[in-house]
Amino acid sequence: MNESYSQKISERQWNQPDKGERESRREATFIDDIVQKDHLERQVLAALEGAETVFDGGAGSGRFSILLAKRGLRVTHFDISKPMIEKARELAAEAGVLDRMEFVQGALEDLSAYRDGQFDLVFSFDAPVSYTWPNQERVIGELARICGKRLLLSVASRLGSLPYLADPIQKSHYILDENCGDPFVDWCLSHREEMVENFRFDRAGMEKLLAEGLMGGQAEIDEYERGGAPWCITYSFLPEELRGILEGLGMKNIRMAGPGAYARSISWEILRKIMEDPEQRRDFLDFCYEYDQNPYVLGMGKDNLFASAEK
Ligand SMILES: C[S@@+](CC[C@H](N)C(=O)[O-])C[C@H]1O[C@@H](n2cnc3c(N)ncnc32)[C@H](O)[C@@H]1O
Repeated sequence: MNESYSQKISERQWNQPDKGERESRREATFIDDIVQKDHLERQVLAALEGAETVFDGGAGSGRFSILLAKRGLRVTHFDISKPMIEKARELAAEAGVLDRMEFVQGALEDLSAYRDGQFDLVFSFDAPVSYTWPNQERVIGELARICGKRLLLSVASRLGSLPYLADPIQKSHYILDENCGDPFVDWCLSHREEMVENFRFDRAGMEKLLAEGLMGGQAEIDEYERGGAPWCITYSFLPEELRGILEGLGMKNIRMAGPGAYARSISWEILRKIMEDPEQRRDFLDFCYEYDQNPYVLGMGKDNLFASAEK
């Protein structure tokens, strides 16, 4: 198992024709996605001082790349998946920022086209680095190399994923509107009972993930090769591990956060009430941002572990 699986994951996951469209609608359907996007957006907007050029690695449908182009920055939107890039290009055209964006199809495993320190701000959000296993450390090193001033990363969180994996119906507790007609929302609701019925706590699986950080493994890879499971492997990080990698690269002022840690402790009914009232929603998201940066909760972000660092 030593080749990179990101290309394979891309073929069956990111390259689905409607994936870009679905990714661009995430915050309209799930509360955990609202909280995570809000956190990452605040982090990236707080990192813009003195920045003119940006590299967004694994930029998807452009949630953050388009936002920064709208702020006047020159953005390289880099992604492995052509359909995701096409969706982002369409949204960038609608936003009137095509002239400030360059779209590049490529894999994070090869950033040799870029010079040391080429971009003032480099970021990679919502786990693209985690799909590059077993090359994730080298990829972080390359992102740090092409970064001139600031590097922001959000990767799959090992501690944060464990409760999620042990609770297959957790995602349905973040549904904003049960009647919105979104196919994934309908799937979560229609499979709820079946998932509870079939659930069994897999202690050995949890211990293995905690020790090794791999979601998926040889069994999933074999299944994938036979044409089955679309998602063969993702590497999840521990907070001290990610900090250690950044320190080892000589990065300074490292700060970390666990987006979604506060929200995950609050029940579905209450979360939905908060989201319905714009004032409470604003206050709640402000407070989540503050709480989720407390060092004692950063491992317990919903899916992602966030880190920012300076050259
Ligand atoms: C969950 S999406 C996140 C998109 C975007 N960063 C955001 O937060 O909206 C992950 C993205 O990473 C891209 N990706 C996955 N592996 C990659 C790789 N090895 N190199 C470049 N992009 C990759 C996928 O195509 C997908 O668009």
